[in-house]
Formats: sequence, C-alpha cells, structure tokens
Amino acid sequence: MKIFGIESSCDETSCSIVEDGKRILAHTIFSQAALHQQFGGVFPEYASREHVEKMLPCVEKTLQEAYCTLDMLDAIAVAYTPGLMGSLLMGVVCAQTLSYALNLPLIGVNHIEAHLYAAMMGNEKRFPALGIVLSGGHTFLVSIDAIGSYELISTTVDDAIGESFDKVASMLDLPYPGGPHIELLAQRGNPQAYPFKAGTVKNLPLHFSFSGLKTNVLYTIQKISPLTEEVKGDIAASFQRAAFDDLCKKIGLALHSGQYQAIYCGGGVTMNTALREQLASTFSNIPCYFPSKNLSLDNAAMIAGLAYHKPATPIELLTPNPRALKTLVK
Ligand code: KG4
Ligand code: ZN
Repeated sequence: MKIFGIESSCDETSCSIVEDGKRILAHTIFSQAALHQQFGGVFPEYASREHVEKMLPCVEKTLQEAYCTLDMLDAIAVAYTPGLMGSLLMGVVCAQTLSYALNLPLIGVNHIEAHLYAAMMGNEKRFPALGIVLSGGHTFLVSIDAIGSYELISTTVDDAIGESFDKVASMLDLPYPGGPHIELLAQRGNPQAYPFKAGTVKNLPLHFSFSGLKTNVLYTIQKISPLTEEVKGDIAASFQRAAFDDLCKKIGLALHSGQYQAIYCGGGVTMNTALREQLASTFSNIPCYFPSKNLSLDNAAMIAGLAYHKPATPIELLTPNPRALKTLVK
C-alpha cells in the first residue's frame, strides 16, 4: 500500500511516499530555516506563504523521485496537528484536494505521534514501551501500549527542550535553529564549567521545567565580559549537560514505575549525538530506539509511515488543529 504523506506543520514543506508503513520510496524536504534565520525564530505568516510556494513543487519532485504517477497511490496522509495554524492549513488543503480529485482515502495524522513512530519505522516494535518526545514545541513522556494507544506520564510545565536550545543559542548569538549549533559548540567546552541545573516541579517529580535553566544561562552570560569563544563553549556544554542529565534522571524514574520493553525517542532534539550516546549508555539494559537522522526533524515520511496504521478521516471533518496533546493521549 503506497501512501503519499504531507507535512507542513511549521517551517518544513515535506512530501513522501511510503509503502506499507516502512519502505520509503521518495522523500522531499524543503527547509525554510534560512528564511527565518533573520528573525531568530519562525515567522508564522512567512512560513505559510513559503508553504504555498513550495507545496506543489514538493509534490511533483516526490512523485518523480519514486517513479510514481498519481494513479499508483492508495491513500493521502497529512499532519493536521499540532503546529502553526496557517502552515497546517496549507498541507491539509493540499491533501484534501488530492484526496478529492483522485478519490483516495484521506488520513489525518498527529505530527507528534509521527515523531514517535519515526523511531519505530524499520525497528522492532516492543510494547509496552516508554515514549519520549523531544521537539521544538513539545517535551513529554508517554507510556505506549500499542501504536495509537498512549498514556501521558509527564510533560514540561514551561519551555520545550528544543525551544530552550533555541533560546540559549540566541543568547550566544548563534543562528536559528539553535540546537545543532549548541551541540557543535558544546563539543569544545567543559560541561562542568557552570553548575547549571534544570528545574523540578513540586510534587510532580517526572515533569520538566527548562525556563529557570534558560534564565540562569542568561544571567550568567550577562555577568561575563568578554564572552570569548572558549567561554561560549563552556556555557553551551554546561547547558546541554544540565538538560540531558535532567532528562536521564526523569526517564530513569519513569522506567522504575512501569514494565517497559523498549524506549522510543522522537523529535528534532534526537538529532543530537551526545544525547543519543548518553541515553544508550545510561539505559543499556533496555533497547533504546531513535529515528534515523533523516527522520528526526519534521518530515513527511513519518506521516506517511504512521498513516498506514490509521483509519481514514472523512474529508469534511479534517481541519487543522494547532494543539497536540489532547488529540494524542488519554
Ligand atoms: O521536531 P522538530 O523538527 O520540530 C518540532 O516539531 O518542534 O524539532 C525542532 C527542534 C528545534 O528546537 C531545534 O533546535 C532542535 O529540534 N534540534 C536540536 C538539534 N537539532 C535540532 N536540538 C539539540 N541538538 C541538535 N543537534
Ligand atoms: Zn516536529
């Protein structure tokens, strides 16, 4: 079964054709990162306009790459939540149009669920599993009983982890998106140079809080002059160490409270090699799965892949929904 997937929830226009939920026949990603760099973050109105420009070239390139014609497709899938309203709308309208014109089933997919599925694509699926979402907009732990059955364990009470990487990067005058730049800079720094710590939430030991950590980094930077490259490296490394140690601590607590067979980690922050190494070595007694790097950031292959496991959505009921968690977890 060949599913054509569309992803446009934020600043990537992406299309993909995936067979039977796992075999990627074609995958196109047009990133808008360069456009938004001048603003230090995603400018929503520009993002939607850019999706309008790139959507049809993206559809065409993907069909060509897969040597597919439209009549060879079996269904259309699209990320309809969460994300920027205008951006989601572009993907949803394109998917509805293709579905209507080709008389194909339409499948609406939760983009965050797809980040978790990206860690399952091509890997063994073992349940119950602990799911960890680490993206620019979300940070949470879920218990996974099966694809589509999730129970929320904990979430961030303020910033998402990717967001805090982006904000600290901007304090260090690094370009958007900041995560990869912090990772690179951290490789040259001393992770123990500054005693940064992520927050704890009263009576909720598994919940996350990154806004205090971010403010602590800001106040530290304000006191330092000159901010040399060496100092920046130490700050990046200390911040990253604090964020990842906190994740490991809370994942450890979650693992103790359930009988999990595997860990699946998804979302853009899983691009970080230091994180992958730290999780794999800290939790060496349980299989820990990550998406392949081309599936870590926002992409349509994970959308088309997950759609294979989902029922069709009536075309008139599929509307963009900027909120995620309520549509995903019990
Ligand atoms: O999942 P994603 O592509 O988009 C959302 O759904 O939010 O995640 C984007 C986030 C950004 O905050 C970006 O800075 C972060 O992932 N990120 C990283 C790395 N690469 C991307 N964070 C840490 N280290 C990286 N190498
Ligand atoms: Zn995402």
